[in-house]
Amino acid sequence: MTAYRRPLDVVILAAGQGTRMNSALPKVLHPVAGRPMVTWAVKAAQALGARNVVVVTGHGAEQVEAALATQHVMFARQEQRLGTGHAFLCGIDALSAALPAGGQEDADVLVLYGDTPLLRSTTLEAMLEDHRARGSALTLLTGELPDATGYGRIIRDAQGEVERIVEQKDATPEQERVGEFNSGVYLMDSRAGELAHRIGNDNAAGEYYLTDLLGLYRAEGEAAHAFKLTDPDEVMGANDRAGLADLEMILRRRINARHMRAGVTLQDPERISIEDSVVLGRDVTLEPGVILRGQTVLGEDVTVGAYSVVTDSVLEAGVVVKAHSVLEGAHVGAGSDVGPFARLRPGTVLGEGVHIGNFVETKNARLDTGVKAGHLAYLGDVQIGAETNVGAGTIVANYDGVNKHHTRIGAGVFIGSNSTIIAPRTVGDAAFIAAGSAVHDDVPEGAMAVARGKQRNIEGWSRRYWGGLRDNVQKKLPWLAGWLERQD
Ligand code: UD1
Ligand code: CA
Repeated sequence: MTAYRRPLDVVILAAGQGTRMNSALPKVLHPVAGRPMVTWAVKAAQALGARNVVVVTGHGAEQVEAALATQHVMFARQEQRLGTGHAFLCGIDALSAALPAGGQEDADVLVLYGDTPLLRSTTLEAMLEDHRARGSALTLLTGELPDATGYGRIIRDAQGEVERIVEQKDATPEQERVGEFNSGVYLMDSRAGELAHRIGNDNAAGEYYLTDLLGLYRAEGEAAHAFKLTDPDEVMGANDRAGLADLEMILRRRINARHMRAGVTLQDPERISIEDSVVLGRDVTLEPGVILRGQTVLGEDVTVGAYSVVTDSVLEAGVVVKAHSVLEGAHVGAGSDVGPFARLRPGTVLGEGVHIGNFVETKNARLDTGVKAGHLAYLGDVQIGAETNVGAGTIVANYDGVNKHHTRIGAGVFIGSNSTIIAPRTVGDAAFIAAGSAVHDDVPEGAMAVARGKQRNIEGWSRRYWGGLRDNVQKKLPWLAGWLERQD
């Protein structure tokens, strides 16, 4: 028989302004390792199997709620920022209103902040375990720092039990020397909502302090327990952009370390940035300066060259992306090579063993097995059959100024350099297109299309031209002057 587990409800406090970010974006929406800060808290809550997650919004509420619209969370608006105690009350009241009568009974309540993205769900799991094992009414997540300035300090009694929390503003010099601090993460029993209604604002800041719950629980005859963090960085928040950069660096290191353990080579990990959502196969190699974003998946043995950026793309096994390439929304088949300086835009699908060279741009383009586009091309809204060779400077002109048109190019086609294929066009299998053609008619299978002005050579033209400019040629172009002499 599995043990009965009480439901867990989570209140995430995210109404604060974050003035020092000096930003139009609410603080909790600033991205860290690719996702808005607040979504890290939501993710941690959901990893714990939370029954309900309520996010308390205030500053920039519309923006925050819109950003979390697909996350299966509830929202509670805190119209005025009257302190953490008041914010919690807004959240817990919204929760009870959403639950059937008595639904809150017997639930554990977890409080998280929307601006501490480094907190690990494994830490929260251990804290929850401890809270339940002790049958605790209130568990505080605490940390220890040599200097805990800014935090509420944990004051313990002679027996070592947690007695109270003293805020920085209210602390005596002696209390300021205490290194144990309150992280602001709490686990409480179902009385929390009712007790929070009794919190007052008689303190240095005139705010409703959520930390007052501790005294209220103690008045009920309950002891508070502290669960101590081994790594105090986990509850680090960001007050300004420098703090944001610190969070980013710590999370990036954590993500990079995870990939290295799983068999990925990172050449200079400090300069490689991999968003949390990215999936990497074994023996992937990432050169310095690589950025991998969004729903990107790299198969085994993929190499991504220096300073390439890959977003929402799938690279199958053995793909090589060379330096300075930019891929977005692309699917690259096994064994293909791309770059350097290539740009694959959304809707690009490359078959196996495709070769894309420098300064080639593709968009909504399907290139079958073995297609080669080695240099300087634009391939938009096009389908290209197997083994076709796209010459340097080929442009598929997909836009007529108003609409986009689609082009089909068969297999085994040879497109000569500097050709323009004016969409919508069909080019049959095994056709040839002469270099420099402006292809404005369809090309049948096996045919050669020549669509360019016929060459005309005008004998003696240069001698007449430069001869008319002889004075200038003698001054500025000594080689040509000699050549002109020899013609006389
Ligand atoms: C609070 C704790 C302090 C703890 C610290 C940890 C109180 C009284 N003090 O301090 O003991 O060491 O967190 O960081 O709780 N928020 C709202 N609405 C409000 C006020 C705050 O949603 O009216 C949110 C903020 O957006 C933030 C969180 O609550 O996510 C904490 O607020 P903050 O002002 O940083 O708390 P402190 O007073 O610094
Ligand atoms: Ca704070």
